[in-house]
Amino acid sequence: MGGMSASRPPVVFVHSFPLDARMWSAQVEHLALHGYPCITPDLPGFGAAPLPSPDLTPSLDVYANAVARALEGHPPAVVVGLSLGGYVAFRLLARHPRLVRGVVLADTRAAADAPEVKAGRILNSSLVNRHGAGALIDKMLPMLVAPTSPQAARDRVRELGAAQRPAAISFALLAMRDRADATPLLDALDLPTMFVVGEHDAITPPAEHAAMAARVKGATLVEVPGAGHMTNLEAPERFNQALLRFLA
Ligand code: MLT
Repeated sequence: MGGMSASRPPVVFVHSFPLDARMWSAQVEHLALHGYPCITPDLPGFGAAPLPSPDLTPSLDVYANAVARALEGHPPAVVVGLSLGGYVAFRLLARHPRLVRGVVLADTRAAADAPEVKAGRILNSSLVNRHGAGALIDKMLPMLVAPTSPQAARDRVRELGAAQRPAAISFALLAMRDRADATPLLDALDLPTMFVVGEHDAITPPAEHAAMAARVKGATLVEVPGAGHMTNLEAPERFNQALLRFLA
């Protein structure tokens, strides 16, 4: 704590879809107690971040570049990305590897979208444009949070999701749909790496995390009992514990 923070790497948290950096408040609070500087960018268009400029083609690289800008002037950081945040972490590793000192990939996927998922992105984009962010988050909620998780976690996910701008959500849907397969990155990854997944994650299930972890030299895998896709919000103590252990 206090004076020890000089030896602590910064930790950058990359949020999931369709939320913003406020989803990390329990982690930031906890790591601050242990002297880790935390950086919590809102991806372009989400939270307090301005919408991406209209001439930009939707791409995860727009997000990875924004995270890289947030890291300017900092020593190499440990990147913590959940779901969309994990997709962005892969692009950061591909484009700005020198900014990264370690990586925590939570409830995410290296593979590209399957064809039926790509089709679903378009349906979700038209849903959000016609009926707003509340309609989309209501549709997603049962997949995001396990039925047995605390109601407060579900309420928080809904609150953050419903607050986002439709244009930001549509941009993210297209960026996710068109993302490249990041699996080859796993084989080459030569940084301390931890995978975290909720036991009941219905979007990016535990088996996929075991397969990803098996490809990364020395990676650890933590399965969080009882949690769904939003592990850090559903089981903050477990998540924080795993994170601190990894950082140490
Ligand atoms: C997320 O939690 O970021 C999304 O579920 C990711 C996705 O839709 O692929």
